[in-house]
Amino acid sequence: MGFDTLRWNNGVLELLDQTKLPDHVVYVACNDSHDVIRAIRTMVVRGAPAIGVAAAYGVALAAKELAGEANSVAFNDALATACDEVSQARPTAVNLAWAVNRMREVHRANSAGGPHAVAESLLREAIQMHRRDVESNEAIGRHGAALVPRAARILTHCNAGALATAGFGTALGVIRAAFSVDPSITVIADETRPLLQGARLTAWELIADGIPTTLITDNMSGFLMAKGEIDLVVVGADRVAANGDVANKIGTYMVAVLAARHRIPFYVACPWSTVDMATARGDEIVVEERSPDEVMGFGSTKWAPRGVGVRNPAFDVTPAELVTALITDRGIVRHPSRETLSILAQRD
Ligand code: MRU
Repeated sequence: MGFDTLRWNNGVLELLDQTKLPDHVVYVACNDSHDVIRAIRTMVVRGAPAIGVAAAYGVALAAKELAGEANSVAFNDALATACDEVSQARPTAVNLAWAVNRMREVHRANSAGGPHAVAESLLREAIQMHRRDVESNEAIGRHGAALVPRAARILTHCNAGALATAGFGTALGVIRAAFSVDPSITVIADETRPLLQGARLTAWELIADGIPTTLITDNMSGFLMAKGEIDLVVVGADRVAANGDVANKIGTYMVAVLAARHRIPFYVACPWSTVDMATARGDEIVVEERSPDEVMGFGSTKWAPRGVGVRNPAFDVTPAELVTALITDRGIVRHPSRETLSILAQRD
């Protein structure tokens, strides 16, 4: 991989600025938790696992800044507030809350040692989470590659790649692992309006790896499926409910319905940390609504008339019945449901 999505450099979290890709490869320095929150909200860093790891570093940065506080009670209170703020940066991807909850546990377990010991243990935890995310993506890749037939033409939506994770990717991890054993596979990338994660990010990282990729607009996949030009779909996830319903980038549901209509396997690749057994069903998942500006145009170019009403939900929910299998770091769950997911959940 010729880039780091996130890197810890001498007490500073550096994030590859995804709003500037593919034209510019520049890093944004985060010196405190407020910088991290801003980077998550403005999508400098995005993708469920990547914002989880960034959030963990955000908590570690807050702890480092607060550790000068001699009074442990004040330190603990201020750190708890910082955790709340970081976990609210974006609502839909459960990895963010999951990562901050893990940091809260580490805080609790080390609080007897005082502020400096807590700050050190939190940084160690963030670095470990960063490393483990890459390992789980490699495991997802190994499991998922077995599902990819020879010379498969694979549709993906949004970016669930190295850029959306600490490295390697989930859906793109499956594609990378499959490509390493069968270089005849090809990818079709949905451009993914409104923020164009498919066109700007997925196409960029796959081309950099030499994986043949064809870009289409979001309204073309049905046509290609009907013509028999897509063999399988693999996407990432922001949150999987306990019954197997999947929240992912807006447009995923549409692709899943089309895949079912054309009897094409629809796979969802994600680390187990994306499975939220505390949320019973997909309709309980909070879907982020973003600024109308993103739909009115792109960047500073606007093409819609002022005064028009706009909706901009950033995610949708695909019912479990449309998911052929969930590809996780713990293994493959065919026909995800409360029953099948509960079996893997017991491995906690
Ligand atoms: O709004 P984004 O770009 O953060 O949305 C990202 C997605 O929907 C991804 O598909 C999902 O987070 C999985 S990333 C491995």
